[in-house]
Amino acid sequence: MEYSVNGQVLRYSAEGETKPGSDICLVDHAQDLTAKTSWAAEGYSIEPFLENGLYKIFQQNAVALLFQCWRDGGLFLPHNFQPELYHRLVPDQQSHLRTVEHTKLLTTDRFPVDIRHIQDRISAVCSQDLIAKNPFDHQSVFHFRVIRPGSGDNNPLHRDVWLKDYSDCINLYISIAGSNTLSSLVLAPGSHHWKESRIEKSIGGALINGQKFNVPAVTRIFGSYDLVRPDPKPNEVLVFSPYLIHGGAVNLNNDLTRISIELRLWRRNSELT
Ligand SMILES: [Fe+2]
Repeated sequence: MEYSVNGQVLRYSAEGETKPGSDICLVDHAQDLTAKTSWAAEGYSIEPFLENGLYKIFQQNAVALLFQCWRDGGLFLPHNFQPELYHRLVPDQQSHLRTVEHTKLLTTDRFPVDIRHIQDRISAVCSQDLIAKNPFDHQSVFHFRVIRPGSGDNNPLHRDVWLKDYSDCINLYISIAGSNTLSSLVLAPGSHHWKESRIEKSIGGALINGQKFNVPAVTRIFGSYDLVRPDPKPNEVLVFSPYLIHGGAVNLNNDLTRISIELRLWRRNSELT
């Protein structure tokens, strides 16, 4: 797959069999939580996040929790360590995988601020009552995504809803460190309204450079399209549909690890579709 973002050509090669999708548009058969917003056509928006004092607490607690996760993974952190310099500390891929295993599937009672602040804020953004709880598996979790510069840490282009249990939600990308126009999430505006037949993808999880990803990888897109790197600043949040094509966000910085929080919300009391 070769694609271009901000004038930069990026590519990855997914091994194994591929197949174009069927003639349906998945979001037409689901709850589209962008539907009541002014950005329903694009499928994403950068929104103001928290009241300033609360954001300060959020950021401090997020870094403290991240450091605790890394320590739990066996990493020794020097005094006054800057999280965006993470890549200088991990000696090899195995240490990295062991460390980031501890930054995934964190329960929302560990979220850097009371999760109700986030639920209230994003409910207001989407004009509906949302909760950070998956109605399919009943989990309330979030993740830190840690993408080293010039690495293959980032997952390929995909839709989240190609995995089970992610239907009907809204996704958050919250920058914690090292997120800028060279490293932030890549997405295809409007692609949540594409039929599956516009996309060829790997069958099952992707295998790229020997690394296995849970999600299938986009291997070809039929017709013209744009990819952008929205760049949420401190105290902003990128809100986007899980039906959008996104990912493939290689970190092009030389000496900055990109760290973000990933959180999903669903309609409160949502019926399973
Ligand atoms: Fe994703």
